[in-house]
Amino acid sequence: MTRLAARNTISLLHITDTHLFGSPEGTLLEMNTHNSLNHVVNIVKQNETEIDFIVATGDIAQDASEEAYKSFMNIMGDLDIPYRWIPGNHDDLSMMEKVAYGAGIYEKLVQINNWQILFLNTSVSGQVYGNLSADEIEFLESSLQAVESDVSVDHCMICLHHNPIKGNAGWMEGIGLKNGEKFFQIITQFQKPKCVVYGHVHQGLDYVHESIRCLCTPSTCIQFKPNVAHFTLDKANPGYRILKLSEDGSIDTKVIRVTEFTSQVDCGRSEY
Ligand SMILES: [Fe+2]
Repeated sequence: MTRLAARNTISLLHITDTHLFGSPEGTLLEMNTHNSLNHVVNIVKQNETEIDFIVATGDIAQDASEEAYKSFMNIMGDLDIPYRWIPGNHDDLSMMEKVAYGAGIYEKLVQINNWQILFLNTSVSGQVYGNLSADEIEFLESSLQAVESDVSVDHCMICLHHNPIKGNAGWMEGIGLKNGEKFFQIITQFQKPKCVVYGHVHQGLDYVHESIRCLCTPSTCIQFKPNVAHFTLDKANPGYRILKLSEDGSIDTKVIRVTEFTSQVDCGRSEY
């Protein structure tokens, strides 16, 4: 586990679902995902001057290629801020580990000041839905037990790719975290978990479930329209989320979307 020191209030950047391709020309439903990520990173550079840490919650690559992961690492390297990544349903964890060998960016525990950040792998090979394996559940429980008795930690944030509660569109019925109920049963046994952050459903959400703040962040590329029966793209622009994690456990957060960006998505598509 890494321990990082930050200012009193930790400034954390959440980016998710970058869906990069091996080729920088790669497009997802007509959107060039390298370009859209670069737009997002450019406004991060303009708007945010004091980021302590970055979390990237999966679907890093659309094609799970070595080149796509290298591109992501190059873009993050340019920001020169510590970060960690976890896999989503489009990713290949073994490829991510191969590309990032020695870089430690798939480390699952990071402590910043009095906050413990915990990273979970919810991906299931060949499936869109997510699940916490027995090993991952064991890791979650043992880590939270350790956190609970660690006097240097007061609060915990848990990062995963899949939505841990049902998505807000009919077509999302079967694509979330299969054992989300178990997930909440575990984390609510402890006092320190304050916040869950995730991606996967390509939209901005901020709500409380079982007394835990849940934050979903828009993708850096295409967006999914909420509250519809069938797969529908949203014309909202790509974005990112900033979280300010205070020493007292409070969380101040907002989503920022790129402006001056002309989306070329194909809104007529019925799947992605
Ligand atoms: Fe995604």
